[in-house]
Amino acid sequence: MEILSADQFTLEQLTEAYNRTRVDYIVPMPMNVDTLREYNRVYDVDLSGSPVAVHEGEIIGLGMLGRREERSWITRLGVLPSGRKHGVGRTLMSFMLERSQEWGVPFAWLEVIKGNEPAHKLFHRMGFIDTRELLVTRRPPSRNQESTVFDPRELLHLRTHNQDVALEFLQQRPEWPAWTNQTESLANVPNLTLIEIQLKDGSVGWVSYHASLLRLTRIIVGVLVGDPVETTTAVLHTLHRLHPTQDALAENIPADDPKWPGFQKMGYFETFRRVEMVKEF
Ligand SMILES: CC(C)(COP(=O)(O)OP(=O)(O)OC[C@H]1O[C@@H](n2cnc3c(N)ncnc32)[C@H](O)[C@@H]1OP(=O)(O)O)[C@@H](O)C(=O)NCCC(=O)NCCS
Repeated sequence: MEILSADQFTLEQLTEAYNRTRVDYIVPMPMNVDTLREYNRVYDVDLSGSPVAVHEGEIIGLGMLGRREERSWITRLGVLPSGRKHGVGRTLMSFMLERSQEWGVPFAWLEVIKGNEPAHKLFHRMGFIDTRELLVTRRPPSRNQESTVFDPRELLHLRTHNQDVALEFLQQRPEWPAWTNQTESLANVPNLTLIEIQLKDGSVGWVSYHASLLRLTRIIVGVLVGDPVETTTAVLHTLHRLHPTQDALAENIPADDPKWPGFQKMGYFETFRRVEMVKEF
């Protein structure tokens, strides 16, 4: 087996190999060339630090390594089903950890879907420790379902902001977001919007999101003043009143986030969970 860096392959080759490593994956997440290109751009994947395992001219496994100030991020790791349990996954991980150390970053981060025992065991073996659980959540469109959880007459002010202001709010978050929700990720997403509200009782909150015809994605809520649950409910109620027809996806909310019950009151539910892990060098 030979390990080469991913920048020696075309995106077509990487996409095809990635999909073949995931044919039996716990949550199906196939990609095409455009989605892989976008993924690499938004999450700062460095293909020169990303390994591809080749055996007899065929790609049998790969991983992708994101790079940001003071941290790296391991993602898209996979080995063909026929090549597993022969040390390929461990070799790909070692490559990414060595590259991270060469870059001088003090931490490597990753997420693994809860219940993916082979990967979770591999990451423990490589010295990663669990930090927290992250919820991947969804809310189907519903016009009147939550009419009792918030009375819009409690709204005092509502302002909509563009991406530049949204990034300023996102940058001020006191918590440590998962890689996908860090401000660096969201700065790479075109057309983010932010809604800021103030309630008559003095509560202040905001939600940033990306809207397409069918879906609201990248949903992040901040509570600046007031009860986290009630203010989150009010913010999301406002969002869904303005966008009644779209499906909503909020990914990687920490399971212990005090705002999560506010999402639930607005009809969000968990679809699956990830375990976030970190390795300190
Ligand atoms: C996770 C995955 C990359 C492991 O690749 P692999 O080449 O089979 O792993 P290795 O042979 O290098 O095994 C390294 C260690 O991982 C763990 N491991 C691998 N497969 C395992 C399994 N089926 N059950 C339990 N532990 C397993 C073991 O700790 C193993 O060390 P050991 O053999 O000394 O006990 C592979 O199973 C895969 O591609 N799965 C589908 C995609 C995926 O889950 N990717 C990770 C997303 S976060």
